[in-house]
Amino acid sequence: MTNDYGTKKEMDALFSKGEEPWGQDWRASQAIRYEIYKKILKEQVFSKIRPPVRILDIGCSLGDFTFQLMMMNPGGITIGVDVSDIGIKMAKEKYPNMDFRVAGLPDIPIEEGNFDIITCLESIYYLPMEGRVLGLKRIKELLHQNGYLLISVPHWGHHKRYFTKEGFINFVSSEFEIILVMHNYGLLYYLFERPLFKWYWRFKSVARGEKWKSKLGCLQTVLAPFCMFGAKIIRFILSLKPPAYIAFFLAKTIMPRTGYTHTILLCRKKQPGLSK
Ligand SMILES: C[S@@+](CC[C@H](N)C(=O)[O-])C[C@H]1O[C@@H](n2cnc3c(N)ncnc32)[C@H](O)[C@@H]1O
Repeated sequence: MTNDYGTKKEMDALFSKGEEPWGQDWRASQAIRYEIYKKILKEQVFSKIRPPVRILDIGCSLGDFTFQLMMMNPGGITIGVDVSDIGIKMAKEKYPNMDFRVAGLPDIPIEEGNFDIITCLESIYYLPMEGRVLGLKRIKELLHQNGYLLISVPHWGHHKRYFTKEGFINFVSSEFEIILVMHNYGLLYYLFERPLFKWYWRFKSVARGEKWKSKLGCLQTVLAPFCMFGAKIIRFILSLKPPAYIAFFLAKTIMPRTGYTHTILLCRKKQPGLSK
């Protein structure tokens, strides 16, 4: 883990590669994750809020999930914010009619408050502990008294800042009442996906001359089109939904306690609210 881990500088560097750094817009595993969020919102939240609904998506990256939120929220307000101005610039280019702004936890200096729904998906774990605590308090300030927070974190990987499931639940329940705990059972698929995704970026970096250039010398020019082709093949394989769904189903059935990769919490403010 470098000193830049989770900072705006690191995020800007990731976005400067010119595409969504985590493949959220093409990996089948990410489509499954988004479907879980949408099912929760559809079944547990939208039916309970009177329109027009005001939604804030914190850590929106290129806005792919923010766009899906907007599609679920016709006539409402949907805003996406991210700490990276490069990411937000790319989001605005991708979805020119949407409202994206540069703002990072723990501050989020956004004028609008009283959001009915705030989503903070796969973002808060980038902050160090102090920032997370302040960030959660800021989310609470931005949420309507009867609003809902949907927040998720991953557990896999090696980063020191990842939460355990219990740690995440304890952290969020310090400020919110948790009304639903869900998991994304991505472990089996992730074992297959992770090495391939690493190779996707290796191929791309070699093709662009960013990696191993000095080692490869003029061979890099010869290898570039093959690496680009390799990256395309991996992208095609990892965008196929059936293997990801089968692996999800197997992990959920065979490994209900250990096969999950993400915890997803639906929360409300603790204090008894006034009706909207
Ligand atoms: C792994 S991506 C998740 C994107 C999207 N929310 C999703 O679930 O697909 C993490 C995003 O959080 C953003 N991010 C990291 N730290 C942040 C912070 N302090 N405030 C707001 N966004 C942040 C990153 O720039 C990145 O776009």
